[in-house]
Amino acid sequence: MTIRSVVRGVGHYLPERVVENAEFAEKIDTTDEWIKTRTGISRRHFAAEGETTSQMATAAALAALKDAGLEASDIDAIILATSTADLTFPSTATMVQAALGMTKGFAFDVQAVCAGFIYALANANALILSGQAKRVLVIGAETFSRILDFEDRATCVLFGDGAGALVLEAATGTGENTDQGILSVDLNSDGSLRDLLYVDGGVSSTGTVGVLKMQGPELFKHAVVKLADTARTSLAQAGLSDDDLTWIVPHQANIRIIAATAKKLGVPMDRVIVTLPDQGNTSAASIPLALSLGKSEGKFKAGDILLLEAIGGGLAWGSVVLRW
Ligand code: UT7
Repeated sequence: MTIRSVVRGVGHYLPERVVENAEFAEKIDTTDEWIKTRTGISRRHFAAEGETTSQMATAAALAALKDAGLEASDIDAIILATSTADLTFPSTATMVQAALGMTKGFAFDVQAVCAGFIYALANANALILSGQAKRVLVIGAETFSRILDFEDRATCVLFGDGAGALVLEAATGTGENTDQGILSVDLNSDGSLRDLLYVDGGVSSTGTVGVLKMQGPELFKHAVVKLADTARTSLAQAGLSDDDLTWIVPHQANIRIIAATAKKLGVPMDRVIVTLPDQGNTSAASIPLALSLGKSEGKFKAGDILLLEAIGGGLAWGSVVLRW
């Protein structure tokens, strides 16, 4: 008998305000055509003035709890992935804990930028497998609109705001890869590549929030190689191969990266969840948003093998293989 972490519920929240590519074209030297063809993005959501990461995360968490048929009091822990916390401290996760009225358990943030949700899921899985928690709310939530340089056309058109959440629950398995739930996890980082994607401000350096800086083409090359590598590593760990994949639920940075990774793994694009056209890159929120969309559209069937994969600032990257 083995403990497995299974997905019990999924939910998301997107801010009301939708910003079309045309809105950028009115203000900076860009076009709807360039953004669409080079990235796959048509529009994104931006948080309203005063709307915070914790508020969006709470809305997504409530949707995931509802989907799971659970109350906040059923949850033992909250792990929230974000690079755009409400405050320097306390953690955004504890703010969600308070907003949900949770009086027990523990909550903390994980910071691995766009790979944050994979890292959060890995931590939640480890807590469940070690018996420290039975039900964990895993959230990815971001307000990247607050750290963008709106004069930099190479980055400001890429990102959006939003939040996604899932409830992970302990279940009994056999230890075989026929079990439902998380079958393998692969995490990686290489801090020597930090200049490819970073924010130029922080508490102990500048004392400012800073804005996002990216070397897009260089990062693109790393993404295509590293995402396929981590996918193959986690598939092998689970005793599976490319042929076993039913769905890819990727981080949504660029449709060309998503398509190249799917091609390498031999998965047709109609088996890849793509939210990029309507949401842009929501960093740590992109995978749970895609999971929530895929589930609400009835795409995942019991027994399907899902590959979740992401790369971002750090660089940090990784993947999770799970059976739905
Ligand atoms: O989420 C974390 C992970 N993120 C990623 O993995 C992102 C990886 N990188 C990318 O997705 C792509 O590199 C970008 C979408 C960021 C950029 O696409 P690209 O095809 O690599 O374009 P580029 O940076 O090589 O720029 C090509 C041209 C340049 O003009 P010149 O020098 O050829 O005259 C840019 O100045 O496109 C220009 N350009 C733009 N033109 C119109 C850059 N941004 C824009 C823009 N509108 N918004």
